[in-house]
Amino acid sequence: MEILDGKKVSNQIKEEITVKVAKMKQRGEKVPHLAAVLVGNDGASLTYVGSKVRSCKKIGFESTLIHLPEETTQEELLKQVDQLNNDPDIDGYIVQLPLPKHIDEEKVLMAVDPDKDVDGFHPTNFGKMALDMETFISATPFGIMELLKRYQIETEGKHTVVIGRSHIVGRPISILMSQKGNPGNSTVTLAHSRTKNLKELTLQADIVISALGVPKFLKADMVKDDVTIIDVGITRVPDETREKGYYITGDVDYENVSKKASYITPVPGGVGPMTIAMLLKNTLLARERHNAQ
Ligand code: GUN
Repeated sequence: MEILDGKKVSNQIKEEITVKVAKMKQRGEKVPHLAAVLVGNDGASLTYVGSKVRSCKKIGFESTLIHLPEETTQEELLKQVDQLNNDPDIDGYIVQLPLPKHIDEEKVLMAVDPDKDVDGFHPTNFGKMALDMETFISATPFGIMELLKRYQIETEGKHTVVIGRSHIVGRPISILMSQKGNPGNSTVTLAHSRTKNLKELTLQADIVISALGVPKFLKADMVKDDVTIIDVGITRVPDETREKGYYITGDVDYENVSKKASYITPVPGGVGPMTIAMLLKNTLLARERHNAQ
């Protein structure tokens, strides 16, 4: 069994970007500038956004955190989005999800300028991704593809079972894994909450990508020997004995499934760090595209 070390690979990617940014600076060019909009005080979102902004600083990007109160109206948020769209200093930005319930997420994501949509959530960018066109690919599926690529995992002709059909992970990764290319060329089954006999499907899988958010859902008796496991789940489980009051766990019963797997991503330290690295990569791409315009 080999661990797919997302932390190590993400550090490699960040180093590669750092070198590029240093060269941009040397040439007197503007460095990439990422902005993040966070509405409210959701604990996990605060951690993720904080981590994204810290990573920017480390690699030489400019970054701006726009932290708005929970009571922010949809209109106010749309105004903020419009400002970011029109700010020539900002190369790319994200609106951290989930948004408070009184805000229509779809409306906000639709308002983001696709050229600055480094999350790849805008329908224009999602559509381009589905059509194999150059675009911003959402950070989590992009990170999974990059991890598979750098570990040279064979995906061609393999049966990949994706669990979860979210717009951010399950749906896009199912498309990417089935596309022509390497990684890609996989036969994909997209399973979800209405799927019957999930175990029958996962037992046939060469690769399982789980993006469900249910701790330790995937058990050892649900997978075959030598399977490749990509665990996208990041759930906070309350635990008084821990300093933070919780621990992080994935969708996979790691202790037992890892004994059968040929490759597996740990949680934490697998897909999570890759997501941040690919967001930074998209922001660099946005800067390069703006330079070329
Ligand atoms: N919430 C969970 N994952 C993501 C992500 O990749 N981007 C944004 N904007 N919000 C998220």
